[in-house]
Amino acid sequence: MGTREMEEKSKQPEIKERKLKYTIKTFGCQMNVADSAEMEAHLIKRGFIFTPEREGADLILVNTCTIREMADHKAFSFVGKLKPWKEADASRVLVVTGCGVERDRKKFQKRFPYVDLLVGAKDIQSFPELLDRHLKNRFGRFDDIVPAGILDGNVEMSQMVTIMRGCNYNCTYCVVPTVRGREIYEPREKILGEVREKVAQGAREIWLLGQTVNSYKPPDPPTDDYDFSDLLTELDQVEGLKRIRFASPHPFYVTEKFARTMAACSKVCEHIHLPVQSGSNRILSAMKRNYTRETFLAALDLLRKHVPNISITTDFIVGFPGETEKEFKETLSLVEAAGLDSSFCFKYSPRPGTPAWELKDDVPNDEKNRRVNLLLELTEKEGREKARALVGSHQEVLISESKGEDIFRGKTKSSWRVRIKKPGLILGEVYEVGIKSTHSRELHGELV
Ligand code: SAH
Ligand code: SF4
Ligand code: F3S
Repeated sequence: MGTREMEEKSKQPEIKERKLKYTIKTFGCQMNVADSAEMEAHLIKRGFIFTPEREGADLILVNTCTIREMADHKAFSFVGKLKPWKEADASRVLVVTGCGVERDRKKFQKRFPYVDLLVGAKDIQSFPELLDRHLKNRFGRFDDIVPAGILDGNVEMSQMVTIMRGCNYNCTYCVVPTVRGREIYEPREKILGEVREKVAQGAREIWLLGQTVNSYKPPDPPTDDYDFSDLLTELDQVEGLKRIRFASPHPFYVTEKFARTMAACSKVCEHIHLPVQSGSNRILSAMKRNYTRETFLAALDLLRKHVPNISITTDFIVGFPGETEKEFKETLSLVEAAGLDSSFCFKYSPRPGTPAWELKDDVPNDEKNRRVNLLLELTEKEGREKARALVGSHQEVLISESKGEDIFRGKTKSSWRVRIKKPGLILGEVYEVGIKSTHSRELHGELV
């Protein structure tokens, strides 16, 4: 899944009396966003209310990522800048969580002794206990903070459900197996229950999350042959749910059954973000990715055979140790062969403790920049062409955003963003839209 920095959320539960306020900053991927939502739910249960302003907050939670060196810098700098806020009022609570803490707990303790509570990524599910214990020890008046806040039902339209945690792969560049541990699967009844509950609260789109999400299998033996495709088929029946998305699938588990299921389930979106990392077999093998350029392209053919309009996006890493110009050109030629709609391109970042850390990081930074730019240019060009090809078509658009009274935004089933100028559309509804023009990667359309 592509990492991105998430902005603070703007939802505001309505609670009768003045309560303590919290704010939250999430770095990293959707797994972290989902973890933040879980922790936030506990804060709200404890009576805290959201504020977008750091200054007025009584508690700040920073959920960190450590996937690349830059992610570490961002987390350290953010927590560093909170020192004056924390020191201005002794009763303030600063909580730092996530993958960065799991990896560098000692460094956080040493550099930021003013942090009140550190919770690593593997302990997120114990966050309620750990926070409650901290509040009780520190203020001894924990019971005053309850009664629980009452939410006003302002639930976001698109919600995430984590179906598996951790990762059993050992891609040689990656910290995730160390910071998140081995794979743990949620029981299918729990997933179904959670999805139904979210839909009842107002969600219309569900993101199923996991590091290799399509390797899902139920945890309790005997497991027979129930797999991710069967889960999609069951979720497709959930009434009121309009769309199902998932992140991140692994190319190894793109089977005929999976492709057929994507086609057969009307709620499953026609989009797959399938990280490939490189187009060179030597690099893929050095990364221990468990597929080749040829099997990756065969997986895309299989998907397109069953879901002809599928949009395909990916992640690349450039400048992996020893990557030659010739090997990089194989990545460029893969983009042409694959027909991608967009990509995230990352410069290889050596991470201590990973197998690739032992290899010499021998592609100079300028060269990594050049490769990233070439790759982005190529995927963006392909993406713009694909967007233009949609002009004149009809698309189902799920409305997710409004601006003013008459500007609405949403996404097609194949994840293209669409802007519609018309008053009175309803958030969470699906409309049939005729695509009239494109503006960079955004489509402009009118109701049919
Ligand atoms: N589980 C997902 C990826 C999770 S990490 C998968 O296997 O597809 C998200 C992305 O970060 C990866 O796809 C990869 O492109 C990038 N990434 C991970 N480690 C990196 C590193 N050390 N340097 C640069 N990019 C990295
Ligand atoms: Fe990292 Fe590989 Fe696991 Fe993805 S599959 S999280 S890249 S180890
Ligand atoms: Fe995600 Fe970053 Fe952790 S990418 S799994 S938040 S290291």
